[in-house]
Amino acid sequence: MAIGVFDSGVGGLSVHRTLVARFPAADFVYLADQANTPYGGRPGEAIVDLTRAGCERLFAEGCGLVVLACNTASGIALRRLQQTWLPGYRRQLGRPANVLGIIVPTIEAATGLPWEHEAERRGDKVEKLDILAVFSTPATASSRVYEIEIDKRRQDVAVFSQACPNLAGLIEQGASREALAADVAAHVKAITSRIGRSPDRAILGCTHYEIVADLFRAALPPGTPLIHQPQATADALARYFERHPEFEIGTGGGRRFLTTGKPGAQSSLVEAFWGGPLSFEPA
Ligand code: DGL
Repeated sequence: MAIGVFDSGVGGLSVHRTLVARFPAADFVYLADQANTPYGGRPGEAIVDLTRAGCERLFAEGCGLVVLACNTASGIALRRLQQTWLPGYRRQLGRPANVLGIIVPTIEAATGLPWEHEAERRGDKVEKLDILAVFSTPATASSRVYEIEIDKRRQDVAVFSQACPNLAGLIEQGASREALAADVAAHVKAITSRIGRSPDRAILGCTHYEIVADLFRAALPPGTPLIHQPQATADALARYFERHPEFEIGTGGGRRFLTTGKPGAQSSLVEAFWGGPLSFEPA
């Protein structure tokens, strides 16, 4: 069974690239919902419906497991789909099928604590506050998923979210590096003035932003650690496969790329990030 990787567009390639490197023999199918990108400004119900349609498409391609390589889909749709749609759909398919997101692995990496862990609120004095900036789409920022989940585990970490309404769209449209750098710099400046100082660490909480991680590094003070979602997701998936041997991930090393949008080559920015030509088939 292949591993499906889903995003609204090309951002999920940042996760996909790391998963392919970690599981080179596995068969992969990547689906970009470019007809509907960006998701980040859409209402929650629309994000749930689009994410379900993407998962159905990938299961129809023979995937056994779908990784939502999208914070917006993971934060807004995953729980709903796991609770209300997946159990019946799995019965209908009659084979193992699951959907995993990327927020849980990211929070585990950011807190150093497993998902199950909830800190006891002992009211101890926090000696030093670690300020964590999260750059994301408006939908992820308004869900407050990072604030809520990190606060349950670590009282010494304060989370500040910065919604970047245009950035994923600019990356999809293949905007110039100057335009992207200006947008990134404006968001770093905005969050810095809201915090009152620079953050101690940052999460690029939208998979598209990994493609311009160098621009975030340049705009943040030198050496600010970035928590990388692709790495965190690959580590979590390796642990998942150990616990779930029923998922046979294939041995053919197959790689397919599907889009609901315009098939063919992607922008030069994306191909440079991917490290070679990338041609998408119609979904
Ligand atoms: N790359 C996606 C994310 O991680 C979504 C970007 C968008 O479609 O707005 O949130």
